[in-house]
Amino acid sequence: MKYNFHKSKFYQTLARVSEGNFARYLSFHLHQLFQKLNKYPNDIVIETASVCNLNCTICHSVKAELGRKNRFMSLALFKKIIDDITPICNTIGVSFCGEPLLNKDIFKMIRYASGKGMCVSMLTNGILLNADARMSILDSRLNFMAISMDGASNHTYESIRIGGSFDTLVENIRLLVKERNQRELHNPSIDLQMVVTQKNIHEVDIFEKLARELGVDRAYLKSLHIDRSREDVAYVKSLEKDYFVNSTSLPSRYITNEQGNLELKDKGLCPQKVRTPVITTDGEVLPCCFDIFGEHVLGNIANQRFWISGIQGNTSISDAIWLCTENCLCAPIVSHQITKR
Ligand SMILES: C[S@@+](CC[C@H](N)C(=O)[O-])C[C@H]1O[C@@H](n2cnc3c(N)ncnc32)[C@H](O)[C@@H]1O
Repeated sequence: MKYNFHKSKFYQTLARVSEGNFARYLSFHLHQLFQKLNKYPNDIVIETASVCNLNCTICHSVKAELGRKNRFMSLALFKKIIDDITPICNTIGVSFCGEPLLNKDIFKMIRYASGKGMCVSMLTNGILLNADARMSILDSRLNFMAISMDGASNHTYESIRIGGSFDTLVENIRLLVKERNQRELHNPSIDLQMVVTQKNIHEVDIFEKLARELGVDRAYLKSLHIDRSREDVAYVKSLEKDYFVNSTSLPSRYITNEQGNLELKDKGLCPQKVRTPVITTDGEVLPCCFDIFGEHVLGNIANQRFWISGIQGNTSISDAIWLCTENCLCAPIVSHQITKR
């Protein structure tokens, strides 16, 4: 049989290297190696709220009926999860589809997880960071906070993040950084992030300048995600037509092929798969953050153990996660750091 050079592993590796994706390729395989050595995920996303106070134009989670029974995770379920995963996992995030600051118990949750030695991160829209919330954040020992700011002017920000106020957000961030520094705290580290689209690309420089002025620790540009498995949804078409930026110098998960259609750059090369499962407000365990509708439920933490040590014949949810490594269709999240701590 004739050897097909173009389909060989060697050629594919060469193609990735020449596309400039070598670092990502290497990090993916290091993740795979680590995964082989360590069976359990050591980073788990816990969805503390599945509803949001904003209605962002690029975000599918707020437009879709996600099918969750509970909009907020209860404190009791959150504690049960933490107690269950503490022996195997040391990092959690408290945000998925909704806005975590809407959960009335969010600070109790963070304090509980921190008290168990967890490293805790939160992704928030920052609009609800009033004086009380800022004080609670600083008291909670939260480790990382990333704040979404998809524009660097009133007009751009407010036309993407519908329902948000740019001035309120900027003031909240300025005060949070100031109060953290006055209390001489190192935590949380505060990052700003912007999903780059046609609507805000002209403000990338202003975003970077604003991040420096506000004194945040880092600023990131992130790539747009388009859930193309749902091509009938009008918003998907709008993301492709009005938001996607065809650029090689900015973070992007897609390339435009010869027919002019969008194609994933690195299909199936997501380092997060399996390493970062998600637990929804209802306790359902999903393989990764691309499954916003909860279509690939691996178990439910409310009535199952996440992991079981050394008991022959019993299976736990983490065994299902372990087996769910094939056929991943998601594109890696691409982000560029543009300022340093
Ligand atoms: C769904 S939000 C939930 C957390 C929080 N409410 C917030 O606004 O940051 C999480 C992140 O997803 C980002 N996001 C929403 N839609 C996106 C898309 N189509 N592509 C890439 N990122 C997106 C948001 O900008 C935000 O940073």
